[in-house]
Amino acid sequence: MCGIIGYVGKGNVIDVILKGLTNLEYRGYDSAGIALRDNNEIKIFKTLGKLINLKNEIEAHKSEIYNPTSGIGHIRWATHGSPSVTNAHPHTCTCGRLVVVHNGIIENYKELREELIKKNCRFVSQTDTEVIAHLVADEFGKIKDLETAVRNSVKKLQGTYAICVMHKDVPDLIVGARKHAPMIVGVGEGENFIASDTPALVEYTKKTIYLDDNEIAIVTKDKIKITDIEGNEVTKKVEVLPWEPVALSKLGYKHFMLKEIHEQPDVIRNVLNGKLYDISEPISLNEVKLNKEILKKLNKIQIIACGTSLHAALAGKYIIEDFAGISVEVEASSEYIYRKTTTDASTLVIGVSQSGETADTITAIKQAKEKGAHVLIITNRPDSNMARLADSLIPLNAGIEVSVAATKSYTAQLISFYLLAMHLAEIKESLDKEYLTQIKHELIQLPTKIEGVLSDTSAIQACARQFSSYKNFIYIARGINLATSLEGALKLKEISYINATGYAAGELKHGPIAMLDETMPVLSILVTGGITYEKVLSNCEEAKARNAKLIALTTSTDTNIDNIFDVVLRIPQVNEILSPVVTCVPLQLLAYYIAEFLGKDVDQPRNLAKSVTVE
Ligand code: G6P
Repeated sequence: MCGIIGYVGKGNVIDVILKGLTNLEYRGYDSAGIALRDNNEIKIFKTLGKLINLKNEIEAHKSEIYNPTSGIGHIRWATHGSPSVTNAHPHTCTCGRLVVVHNGIIENYKELREELIKKNCRFVSQTDTEVIAHLVADEFGKIKDLETAVRNSVKKLQGTYAICVMHKDVPDLIVGARKHAPMIVGVGEGENFIASDTPALVEYTKKTIYLDDNEIAIVTKDKIKITDIEGNEVTKKVEVLPWEPVALSKLGYKHFMLKEIHEQPDVIRNVLNGKLYDISEPISLNEVKLNKEILKKLNKIQIIACGTSLHAALAGKYIIEDFAGISVEVEASSEYIYRKTTTDASTLVIGVSQSGETADTITAIKQAKEKGAHVLIITNRPDSNMARLADSLIPLNAGIEVSVAATKSYTAQLISFYLLAMHLAEIKESLDKEYLTQIKHELIQLPTKIEGVLSDTSAIQACARQFSSYKNFIYIARGINLATSLEGALKLKEISYINATGYAAGELKHGPIAMLDETMPVLSILVTGGITYEKVLSNCEEAKARNAKLIALTTSTDTNIDNIFDVVLRIPQVNEILSPVVTCVPLQLLAYYIAEFLGKDVDQPRNLAKSVTVE
């Protein structure tokens, strides 16, 4: 949600900032802006829409830019004030000498605004951010010290923020500060950076310092100083980023989403690596920091997550209950935080999040910790805020996911749940040993099965073409693939804007069936050899009797079903309990190709953000 980069140094300031913003564009993309220190002046360029508009704007004014030595940039996902050039960041104080970019929400901005207006500050935007510019400028006017001005100002802010500030009178110094929103400092040679997330920096430096809440970073090209909110200098560890810049390249694929879908077999191998290497050996999950005696007695798990991660959590419930016999509740983080929950010190609370920065989930995790629960985090970002709150941490190791619609992080989350459930089953001795060995064997086969799906996508593409003009879709499944149907429908909604809803197949007749006619395709997931196939097939017959167009996603080789369905998408045989890892892939592809045919912006769908850092 929004992206920030600040830069001071020997390099090409415009290139560094635009490149950084490009790598952050997946976080927000309704407007963008840049402030440059150039020829002793602060020059600001802001545009509405995608980053390309800002690039064109700067190109058009090239002759007015001499040799910038520092700058700050921002890519916005609007919260306060609609997307517009005026509301785009950077924002300035009344005289325009101070500029600020901001991620987060200032909750007391109205009060601050009134106070500042009384001091003759002139506001031009509808944003909460603008108060920060006036506030810091007001402080700077009194003490002429930018570092202290920022420190004094942030003490007055309520809410969440990661900010980066520059002042015309303080050449080539940028100041960053954070509270409940991520911010890092990139360490270079003869150049230094401030950013809201690591992809902004990865092409320039792998050395980073993670700011903690209430810390201030004072950065010049040769020096980085970090202080606490009282001004005491803090010594911070310089960490080395695990990614190569190539992780941010499409590697010949048309979109990041397609590349990330195709990465899934290797991602699964990566997740399994080191945890399941010999099927006759127990799962090695040292990441779970609860001792065996506690795990043996564990009888309540709560999983909290949002969006796609919530669907992985739902599958996780089925898997844990099936393998380990422990009762599992699954709840959207945004619901968990506004009610009386039964979480206590004997509950294992699992937070699932690709980004590790989702505000609702962070709040929920904090509440669970306050109640004494042990918190296990499953995330793709071991460097995230959520990971820092974890008592136990299972990193997904899926590599950076750029496309806003989550794909490979979802399958990595599913695999993590299988590993966790097997680990618990081994401790609790809740599964027959032979069965467990068989499951491990089949788990290792999953990447090859997905490769089978990915090797020929022509039937999925044809189906996408045939159905791309429909306005509504229903996805149905039973059992563990209910999560898949919800996730498949979400993928379609997110990137094609088609109304799609997932239902438990048995629920179809309790209401949704009223919507069925020839304009409503019903996509059903039918996995043979398990406990749901026949029942889902009956539900499909019910839909057919109402003239709905039927698509089957199935492991069945029975050609008789071709008479029931308009389209049959066949996938390799897979054990029903493990099948969500395979069934989700054709649904990701179907959503991708439908969006592609409709000419939608697949990687950056409208109104969405990759990591939602506001509640
Ligand atoms: C946003 C994204 C979704 C994502 C959700 C949860 O809404 O658009 O794709 O599933 O956040 O994100 P998380 O990083 O917590 O998994």
